[in-house]
Amino acid sequence: MTTLFTDIKELIQVEDYPKKMVSGKNMKILPTLKNAFLLIENNSIKDFGEMKNWNNQKVDKTIDVTGKIILPTWCDSHTHIVYAGNREQEFVDRINGLSYEEIANRGGGILNSAKKLQETSEEDLYQQSARRVEEVMKLGTGAVEIKSGYGLTKEAELKMLRVIKKLNQNYPITIKATFLGAHAIPSEYKNNKSAYLDIVINKILPEVANENLAEFIDIFCEKGYFDIEDTKKLLAAAKNYGLKPKIHVNQFNAFGGVQVGVKFKAISVDHLEEMRDEDIEILKGSKTMPVALPSCSYYLGIPYSPARKMIDAGLPIALATDYNPGSTPSGNMNFVVSTACIKMKMTPEEAINAATINGAYAMGLENSHGSICKGKKASFIITKEIPSYGFIPYSFGNHQIEQVYIEGKRI
Ligand code: NIG
Ligand code: FE
Repeated sequence: MTTLFTDIKELIQVEDYPKKMVSGKNMKILPTLKNAFLLIENNSIKDFGEMKNWNNQKVDKTIDVTGKIILPTWCDSHTHIVYAGNREQEFVDRINGLSYEEIANRGGGILNSAKKLQETSEEDLYQQSARRVEEVMKLGTGAVEIKSGYGLTKEAELKMLRVIKKLNQNYPITIKATFLGAHAIPSEYKNNKSAYLDIVINKILPEVANENLAEFIDIFCEKGYFDIEDTKKLLAAAKNYGLKPKIHVNQFNAFGGVQVGVKFKAISVDHLEEMRDEDIEILKGSKTMPVALPSCSYYLGIPYSPARKMIDAGLPIALATDYNPGSTPSGNMNFVVSTACIKMKMTPEEAINAATINGAYAMGLENSHGSICKGKKASFIITKEIPSYGFIPYSFGNHQIEQVYIEGKRI
């Protein structure tokens, strides 16, 4: 089945040869074609080019998109979409003056979500999570990473990962799974963190690897959670099972997590609200993608990643939502792209690169997602009639999406 999209006002993020990612000054370059066509066959991109070069071959279906822009679907490389219930009460507690950390210290936060998740059946958890997956697909996300980490017992962590697997099987969106058993210390292990980490490493991790339930390993490397030694220990163990690191570092405190990530060849280091010069330095020349989560900064009222400083130092950046019940109850990549422009001073070109090709790289999906390139997945957004692609971040709080195609299927 071939479908031809004609008279595209502008086709965004086109490439003849797939690149892995863009960094530094190159992030300002967003290759586009004006007055273009896009030809898809089944789930893949077959051809694209300027209308004047269309060869008039026979196709099964033609769709005229005059006045509209087409861009690749968003690649959201950091989420916790599988969770049970919500933390609306903590939202109100924060309005009334408690901090995120104070709430967590009272047994709220991640432990609150873990309790809810442990009490929720696998089927119910699947249904709650499926609604969120459907929601983000409509918002233009075509590939997403989802973490475990609200289970904190072997049974509940495996339950989360099985739900992630089932979502991947049942929806056209590409889903990558990350094992985040070391997300918080369960209250029973409050004074015995190493015993819990041992369980994660020796009891849960082997099962996760054995059942092939995750490709990546994650840990919350933060004061009051897991320290540098814990992080090294877990990443070393995960390496033996072939799980690549993709870790939470520098959210509230910077104390060497980035360095450990780079040492263990992490595919990404995420959050980075607190960045020291030495953290930027170590990332230079590494293959680790720095991932910023501006809607988490927005929701918690914490600093934004110093994107300008990082890009100007030559680094790449990917943008992701962090969709989770506690620090970012939103999976809207359109908002993330706007917020990156408004609060982190990224240009529309930089933000779109960060939310497409660099996001794909941060999930190991750069060969199939993140750009309009022959042979890649036919996953793209058709906008409403808008004046230019800059209108996407400009119209914050809104989205400009008219239709979403994921792997050739209209959502
Ligand atoms: O990425 N920081 C750690 N984990 C999540 C939030 C977890 C929660 O509050 O439920 C995050 O922000
Ligand atoms: Fe997160």
